[in-house]
Amino acid sequence: MTTSITIAGWARGLLEGGTLADKLASPPPGAVDVVGPAEDFAEPARAPPLAMVDGADKLPKLGDLTSPAARLATLSRFAHHELMATELFAWALLKFPDAPLALRRGFVAALVEEQAHLRLYVDRLAAHGAVLGDVPLSGYFWKLVPAIRTAPDPLRAFLCAQGLTLEQANLDFTILYRDAFRLAGDFDSAAVLQRIHDDEVAHVRLARAWLVRDDDAADADRDRYEQHVPFPLSAARAKGRRFEAGARRRAGLSDAFIAYVRDARPYAAAPWSPSSPTGSAAAPESP
Ligand SMILES: [Fe+2]
Ligand SMILES: [Fe+2]
Repeated sequence: MTTSITIAGWARGLLEGGTLADKLASPPPGAVDVVGPAEDFAEPARAPPLAMVDGADKLPKLGDLTSPAARLATLSRFAHHELMATELFAWALLKFPDAPLALRRGFVAALVEEQAHLRLYVDRLAAHGAVLGDVPLSGYFWKLVPAIRTAPDPLRAFLCAQGLTLEQANLDFTILYRDAFRLAGDFDSAAVLQRIHDDEVAHVRLARAWLVRDDDAADADRDRYEQHVPFPLSAARAKGRRFEAGARRRAGLSDAFIAYVRDARPYAAAPWSPSSPTGSAAAPESP
């Protein structure tokens, strides 16, 4: 007798396994998606080279990417974002077993693409003589999970945090850094950033499509985002300093939502503690 391997079992393996190979495991052929109990993970297992730390150094300046050390620090940061995105989609597959099957399929497809992005960056790190973990890895994305889990509608909060804030911002950062790597003469890394940008358009589209309801007005994405985005995230965090309106339109965002994000200003820092996690909510880590 054979036991079917489930999508939940695969997702669990991605969170319980601590090595890079564990994180890059493909969905088993024939894996079935069955509705099981909701499972929650506070944090993923990480073998020592991939252990997460609090805080992070600033990203190198764009103009410094001619330096191999600056490229390495930048590629490490981006690689770790892809690893955390991989894990967060696995977390969502376990946390939301009752989500519509089509959305769960979308999560699986996005997760597999995040793994591909991670591989691409790991290859670029190897080209620089480094491995993921040589530069300390900030666990910032995982620090958002408590706010998602305790939100009134955790599934919509996840769509707003992952798809419509972090991934929406990445539509800008990928293009900003694509051009910076090109200027620095690292065309292979620039090509990776372009590939990731193209994939992320679909990830943003997925989140937007499931955030709104069938009977919503076309520009309801803005209102639903405002309603469900979990603090400390906000529209000010859903963009980079170069604003790619065209990519957002390709992702299906309404003109009203695009304008709302373009014009968004960060929360004011809490005067009593400019460096506190809630007082510096605007852009704790970029991208
Ligand atoms: Fe990605
Ligand atoms: Fe993504």
